[in-house]
Amino acid sequence: MAGRRYPRLVIVATGAEPAAELVGRSAETGRIDAVLNRLGRGGDALLIVGDPGIGKSALLHRARLRADAAGIRSLVTVGVESEAELAYAGLHQLLQPILGIREMLPDRPRRVLEAAFCIGGDLEPDPFRAALAAHQLVCEAAESGPLILIADDAHWLDQSSLEVLAFIARRLKPGLMFATFRDKSAMQIP
Ligand SMILES: Nc1ncnc2c1ncn2[C@@H]1O[C@H](COP(=O)(O)OP(=O)(O)O)[C@@H](O)[C@H]1O
Ligand SMILES: [Mg+2]
Repeated sequence: MAGRRYPRLVIVATGAEPAAELVGRSAETGRIDAVLNRLGRGGDALLIVGDPGIGKSALLHRARLRADAAGIRSLVTVGVESEAELAYAGLHQLLQPILGIREMLPDRPRRVLEAAFCIGGDLEPDPFRAALAAHQLVCEAAESGPLILIADDAHWLDQSSLEVLAFIARRLKPGLMFATFRDKSAMQIP
């Protein structure tokens, strides 16, 4: 109806529209491109550490676009405060797109993952077994094509997921992981 006015709505979207071009980040983007180009010839884990608003997610977004353009699949998880106490919530987000291939895992790791994600299984998902199983699943997925793992706002990931990510990051051969943190002490990779 012409002329009729409605009250203003507030739209809240997850993820701000990223900048088309990153200003003053050639050193950082160069570093990211270098590890993307090395993918397949070794394992790299790149941690991006900095204060809120400094451009960590924007760098990850760009890395993801580069990966997409090169036919590299990305698995992404984003830490959120509201899920920080939910064991394996972050890992679940990361692995969800490849959970369908868990049938290719041996019986035990498949059941451990299913227990961790509460989709069945009768095994105790202790962190070491869950880490082994998640690593196996990622390796299985990487058999069918290059893969990168992305963890944004990793400081808000639940502790169990963070430990599994660090476990995988130390075993990327080949493979690539990007993670952002507000504080560099959060993830012990080397
Ligand atoms: N180098 C840059 N050039 C242009 N815009 C940027 C740059 N870095 C960040 N931004 C923009 O600033 C805002 C905050 O960046 P963001 O990546 O969300 O920060 P962080 O993840 O570190 O909290 C976003 O809208 C982003 O697109
Ligand atoms: Mg961010």
